[in-house]
Amino acid sequence: MSNKTFTMIKPDATAKGHTGAILDQIIKAGFSIKAMKWTRLTTAQAGEFYAVHKERPFYGELVAFMSSGPIVAAILEKDNAVADFRTLIGATDPAKAEEGTIRKNFASSVGENAVHGSDSDENAAIEGSFFFSGLERF
Ligand code: CMP
Repeated sequence: MSNKTFTMIKPDATAKGHTGAILDQIIKAGFSIKAMKWTRLTTAQAGEFYAVHKERPFYGELVAFMSSGPIVAAILEKDNAVADFRTLIGATDPAKAEEGTIRKNFASSVGENAVHGSDSDENAAIEGSFFFSGLERF
């Protein structure tokens, strides 16, 4: 079990000014930030990041949304990081997310759901490497 996960604060949340509140909730939940950047994906980059979802009906919408504005990408560290972070953010659909979770607090729909969290240790490593060079991951 790895102690790292990867997150993005998505364009809906950055546009609404929720970045600070979301980072505050992440830090108060016991995660430490190992790497972080404010950036914006091109449609090609968003398409590559979400290539695993290429065959899904929502892929085009997802790629357009994820490249529509700035995001914050970060590598987070904590014991049991992947599972604990998914608990902290709540269900993909904010309508189904538990009270107090980041998606319940800040997301508006299943597509525009405020934050991403890796679903496995393997994907956390792949996704972190997508955004950060070895030099930036210390
Ligand atoms: P995320 O966990 O970042 O990874 C895949 C994303 O696809 C997911 O968050 C949602 O934002 C998005 N997604 C999943 N299901 C749907 C859907 N039915 N319609 C639109 N977007 C979706």
